[in-house]
Amino acid sequence: MRSILRFYLGDTLHEIDRCGHTQTLLDWLRLKQRQCGTKEGCNEGDCGACTVVVGRLEAGKLVYRAINSCIVFLATLDGCHILTVENLKTADTLHPVQQAMVNLHATQCGFCTPGIVMSLLALWLNENHPTVARIEDVLAGNLCRCTGYRPIVDAALSLYRDDDRESDPVLINASAIAGKLAAMQDQQTLHLSDPEGVFFAPANLDDLASLYSSHPEATLVAGSTDVGLWVTKGMQRLNPIISLVRVEDLKSVHETEAGFTFGAMVSLNTVYERLGAMHPHIRELLRRFGSEQVRNSGTIGGNIANGSPIGDLPPLLIALGASLTLRSGQTSRTIPLETFFINYKVQDRAPSEFVECITVPKLGTDEILNVSKISKRFDEDISALCGAFWLKMSGSTVSAARIAFGGMAATPKRAQLAEQELVGHIWSTEVADRAARALATDFAPLTDLRATKDYRSAVAGNLLRRFAVETLEVHVPTRVNQVGAHNG
Ligand SMILES: Cc1cc2nc3c(=O)[nH]c(=O)nc-3n(C[C@H](O)[C@H](O)[C@H](O)COP(=O)(O)OP(=O)(O)OC[C@H]3O[C@@H](n4cnc5c(N)ncnc54)[C@H](O)[C@@H]3O)c2cc1C
Ligand code: FES
Ligand code: FES
Repeated sequence: MRSILRFYLGDTLHEIDRCGHTQTLLDWLRLKQRQCGTKEGCNEGDCGACTVVVGRLEAGKLVYRAINSCIVFLATLDGCHILTVENLKTADTLHPVQQAMVNLHATQCGFCTPGIVMSLLALWLNENHPTVARIEDVLAGNLCRCTGYRPIVDAALSLYRDDDRESDPVLINASAIAGKLAAMQDQQTLHLSDPEGVFFAPANLDDLASLYSSHPEATLVAGSTDVGLWVTKGMQRLNPIISLVRVEDLKSVHETEAGFTFGAMVSLNTVYERLGAMHPHIRELLRRFGSEQVRNSGTIGGNIANGSPIGDLPPLLIALGASLTLRSGQTSRTIPLETFFINYKVQDRAPSEFVECITVPKLGTDEILNVSKISKRFDEDISALCGAFWLKMSGSTVSAARIAFGGMAATPKRAQLAEQELVGHIWSTEVADRAARALATDFAPLTDLRATKDYRSAVAGNLLRRFAVETLEVHVPTRVNQVGAHNG
């Protein structure tokens, strides 16, 4: 075991043997380093004021991504290169992203500006000539209450007109940093402790399995976009913690003709890239999942394991027929994903069992899919409900159906009665309407702050009706159109 946390902040190597085991990167930057350029707004991953850029080796290559520093634990950044707004300026020269913000008057009070600069920096480092839509996506997790986004988008676009990458200090330094990070990688479990608790970060799957078997009471942390809030907002004391962030075996994507196998630690943005290419509705669902920062940190395994009834991936993955592989010690078992969710906050997961991977079949040419997320706000909002519909067609007859909803029950759940109304019938708006009415028996949704039970029931049925209308390309009746129009 190693008991020293190591990472670079800008050009400086930090080796830390004592830090709070759930101390956030934001608190460490502001309170310990007195680097207050990175701002604290919401402290829950929503506003982006705390955005920093973190470089990690991914398959040996240095990749920089924007993340929210307020919900990531410092100890999970072992072996990383952290960049904050303070690290961008060299002598008297602003970084090109900062200079573009100045030139285009893209700041007023300045509170959001460091976060916006860091989000645009990650975009600049990774992508050439992004569209305005892509820039807006990247900024969806950065809230500015004063400037308005037009000058900020203009600043982003101006960068690519000048495209002066050769003098960019971050890019000039990148290969040296990659070498330094490579030299820091090892296979030892990181073990830190403080008076309040213990933190482990094993470096491979076997060590994770045996560590979790010895500490079945531990809280597993993947991207911490849920767990981080238990600490910053829920004030929970989590002890011990086992972080999965160094387990490379959990980060692979294996693609075959039949489908994809995603390691539990595959980021939501990678899932967006790979599954999104399969169907435009999947792309749209993942584009609206949290923000760029949340999708960079959050993982597919975390979205399933948290068992939330309103997580966005489970309905889609259930409709696609995904299976889940769980591991405990040296034993693995694979189950249909839908059977994992037993009841509210109860999953089919034994103590010391963890999610290892998720296998998702590809869509066949005789299969049709529709996914809709309904939320109060278009960007960065949690679903009121999410419906996913998959049909296997034999000519114009439905030969198999999987319909799954989030937000309609205590768990993500299939609509079996509605499915029965479809199978064996010619796909038509009348059949879809019968199935939509059966949803009233499949589900008894609740009223909460996101939606009333009546709204949920009405919209769920209309999503199914709209699926029929869209796939059959028939005339859209006005009433159906009105109720379903809130999607997106
Ligand atoms: C601003 C914001 C916006 C969000 N928007 C959305 C949204 O649009 N849609 C949505 O669905 N969610 C959303 N979320 C919630 C969250 O981002 C997702 O649930 C995410 O997928 C969680 O993944 P994670 O890796 O961060 O999990 P973590 O927070 O690390 O862990 C979540 C839970 O899963 C457990 N866990 C993690 N990995 C494993 C594993 N391999 N095996 C067993 N248990 C494990 C943890 O112990 C914990 O109980 C949002 C969160 C924030 C902060
Ligand atoms: S402080 Fe708002 S996202 Fe971190
Ligand atoms: S400039 Fe004031 S919040 Fe953006």
